[in-house]
Amino acid sequence: MKILAIESSCDETSASVIEKDSNSLKILSLVTATSLSMHALTGGIIPENAARMQVKYIIPVIIEALLSSVALNEKKSSETTKLDPSSSTQDNIENWKNSRNIIQNDIDAIAVTHGPGLVGSLLVGVETAKTLSYVFDKPIIPVDHLLAHIYANFISKNADSNLLNSSELNANSFPFIGLIVSGGHTDLLYFKSHNNYIWLGGTRDDAAGEAFDKIGRLLGLSYPAGPEIERRAKLVDKTNIRFKSPIIGEGNFDFSFSGLKTEAQRFIQSQDNLSQQAIDEICYATQKAIFDVLVKKTLKATEKYNCKTILLGGGVSANQTLIEYFIQQTINHELQIAIFSPEKIYCTDNAAMIGAYALLNPKAKKWNQIHANPDLYFA
Ligand code: KG4
Ligand code: ZN
Repeated sequence: MKILAIESSCDETSASVIEKDSNSLKILSLVTATSLSMHALTGGIIPENAARMQVKYIIPVIIEALLSSVALNEKKSSETTKLDPSSSTQDNIENWKNSRNIIQNDIDAIAVTHGPGLVGSLLVGVETAKTLSYVFDKPIIPVDHLLAHIYANFISKNADSNLLNSSELNANSFPFIGLIVSGGHTDLLYFKSHNNYIWLGGTRDDAAGEAFDKIGRLLGLSYPAGPEIERRAKLVDKTNIRFKSPIIGEGNFDFSFSGLKTEAQRFIQSQDNLSQQAIDEICYATQKAIFDVLVKKTLKATEKYNCKTILLGGGVSANQTLIEYFIQQTINHELQIAIFSPEKIYCTDNAAMIGAYALLNPKAKKWNQIHANPDLYFA
């Protein structure tokens, strides 16, 4: 089965062609247009701006994804294309015709993120997918963006990838604990099988990625601050700065990060001026406070639900230090638990993960049975 997947829930506009071949999920193309440099100017995403850019990007991105899916041999399957719309293929009539033929003859279904997300952004992807589904008479598979972050782990890894081998991840990996850590969400789930899961807990206020971004902003770092905080924290050997891990002692699976931002803000305001070394140390303390609580509660969930596997997903799971914290804690506590995290390009928002979820949970609908649902929450 081969799927054209579309993702536009936040600021990225992404399309991917992905195929299920025996037990592996192979990415034939992944094209993502980002408006990140525009959001860096405003220090965060302004929804209206994001949706306007997506209207501009969506068709070129889909055309590019379809065309490059058949030119796979020239590229490595996990290579992603960042689209520059000024050099886009959309005006070339041959490209229109070729992509129409690919969709007609090669594609079995269309998958699209229907929520959660920004309403304007979601509408761009959903309405485009519905139109393609109607015109080409293809079934449509609506996908929950958050579950897709976890399913990015099922995408076949490159042979030269040094991550844990995804071939170990299969039907026998159930049950597992899924931890979603992104800019908008922090959620812990217990998966019994595909499409059979229980939500255990989530953030009561800011998400983990949001905490990185807000504290980064206080430090004058550019948006999104997660990668820069990771880089700076790595430079620190030791520090006396400590921030509290919020609600780490509570016997539940909830998280809360807005208090951490306030604690960091008070500390920053109490300093006369911040040296680069001090900024690095604050980055270290921030990361440690966030990761200690994420790791502790996730491992507690594996114990309670007797799971041997943890799947991480979302932008923050691109952080190698987080994965190292997890591995170190399993060693310290002599736990036989396998930790999986997607390849970096599949951690942040992308259409390949939407296709991966759809291929493993192929619940197709007709074009007129789906709609954008910004508030979708583990339906
Ligand atoms: O999953 P994602 O691309 O978008 C949402 O669905 O929200 O996640 C974006 C978030 C941002 O908050 C960003 O700062 C964070 O992921 N992020 C990181 C790293 N890379 C991205 N946080 C910590 N360390 C990183 N290396
Ligand atoms: Zn996301």
